[in-house]
Amino acid sequence: MIAEILLGTALATSVAALSLVSLKLYIKLSTGMCHSQVCLVGKTAIVTGANTGIGYETALDFAKRGARVILACRDETKAKEAYNKIIAETSNSNIVYKLVDLTSFDSVRKFAHDINANEDRLDILVNNAGAGRLGNKTTVDGISITMQTNYFSHFLLTILLLDLMKKYPSRIVNVSAIGAKLGRIDFAKLTSFTNESNQYITSKLCQILFTIELANRLKNTNITAYSLHPGVIKTEIFRNMSPAIRWIILFLIDTFFKTATEGAQTQIYCAIENGLEKYSGQHFHDCKMVKRYKSADDPALAKKLWEESERICKVNGVSYN
Ligand SMILES: NC(=O)c1ccc[n+]([C@@H]2O[C@H](COP(=O)([O-])OP(=O)(O)OC[C@H]3O[C@@H](n4cnc5c(N)ncnc54)[C@H](OP(=O)(O)O)[C@@H]3O)[C@@H](O)[C@H]2O)c1
Ligand SMILES: *[C@@H]1O[C@H](CO)[C@@H](O)[C@H](O)[C@H]1NC(C)=O
Ligand SMILES: *[C@@H]1O[C@H](CO)[C@@H](O)[C@H](O)[C@H]1NC(C)=O
Ligand SMILES: *[C@@H]1O[C@H](CO)[C@@H](O)[C@H](O)[C@H]1NC(C)=O
Ligand SMILES: *[C@@H]1O[C@H](CO)[C@@H](O)[C@H](O)[C@H]1NC(C)=O
Repeated sequence: MIAEILLGTALATSVAALSLVSLKLYIKLSTGMCHSQVCLVGKTAIVTGANTGIGYETALDFAKRGARVILACRDETKAKEAYNKIIAETSNSNIVYKLVDLTSFDSVRKFAHDINANEDRLDILVNNAGAGRLGNKTTVDGISITMQTNYFSHFLLTILLLDLMKKYPSRIVNVSAIGAKLGRIDFAKLTSFTNESNQYITSKLCQILFTIELANRLKNTNITAYSLHPGVIKTEIFRNMSPAIRWIILFLIDTFFKTATEGAQTQIYCAIENGLEKYSGQHFHDCKMVKRYKSADDPALAKKLWEESERICKVNGVSYN
């Protein structure tokens, strides 16, 4: 009897261990890596949220390729630290950091004004900064903080930089998340706090819809746009969770999922891989184009969201040609 129980336990443990090893193996093997050799000397890139996480890794990669990289961050101390690390690691001294706080349209406008006044080109814009679990807070612009940080401010930033980007073939990359599959846009509540999980996934769905409509509007220009899910990655994105839950999640991610370097690969791919232009407006995962999520497969919804966003961000009358 005891022998049977022991045998059963040993068997169950082995099956569990085997499944976990398979999971780890599956994730390692399916992690898409960007193998592009593209050189970015002479090109300029902006990465929002570049001081940590996959934004930092993306900026580091562009710096290694010789680009002029503009780290768009909200915290001067953190920005400077990232700036110093990137220069030390790449010996590329053509790196700058500029401050922008995505909870304020005013800050976004000032940042864009600075870029437009001082840069003569912009080849890559990675709308990467994002946050979750920010609570029921309203920004100075009267918008739910998660929606403004993750979506509306990037919408405004992108529109304000379009003219500069049109000068040369250029790309806009929007970092979304797979949770967008569950998103649903409620236009009556677009700028107000609904609930924590809904806020994050809705903001991420908006980014995909934005990309679809953006690609559409920019069809006859030099600019193409892509959205993506970077994977499940060990970064600071979980910083606002309760310590116990965060510990468990980070332990699981550390064991099974992606490092920040791996997590940055799909956005690097979308920004630089040769020949992607014909896929403008599409969604990517693990350095591959994937089918649009059902929640985002609605051009009329993308168009309506665009019009609402123009109104909310007060950018009416922009010419997209
Ligand atoms: N990690 C994942 O598993 C995962 C999965 C799916 C999608 N994503 C997406 O990947 C993107 C990058 O996230 P990450 O995982 O690298 O997270 P992270 O390590 O927390 O980095 C987020 C970055 O966004 C910046 N940021 C946040 N609020 C800002 C604001 N108001 N103004 C300016 N910058 C702000 C942060 O700056 P501070 O350091 O100053 O706060 C930080 O640089 C996000 O869009 C996220 O939604 C991540
Ligand atoms: C697109 O970029 C090229 C440079 O590669 C430039 O000569 C051309 O004027 C740009 N086209 C438009 C419509 O701005
Ligand atoms: C969020 O806060 C506002 C203002 O304090 C309050 O009126 C609203 O009911 C809150 N919303 C939720 C969903 O808790
Ligand atoms: C969160 O809000 C959305 C949209 O208002 C709603 O559909 C969903 O049921 C809510 N979820 C919870 C857990 O309250
Ligand atoms: C996403 O990309 C589109 C281009 O497809 C751009 O117009 C838009 O501003 C971006 N939005 C966000 C929230 O990243």
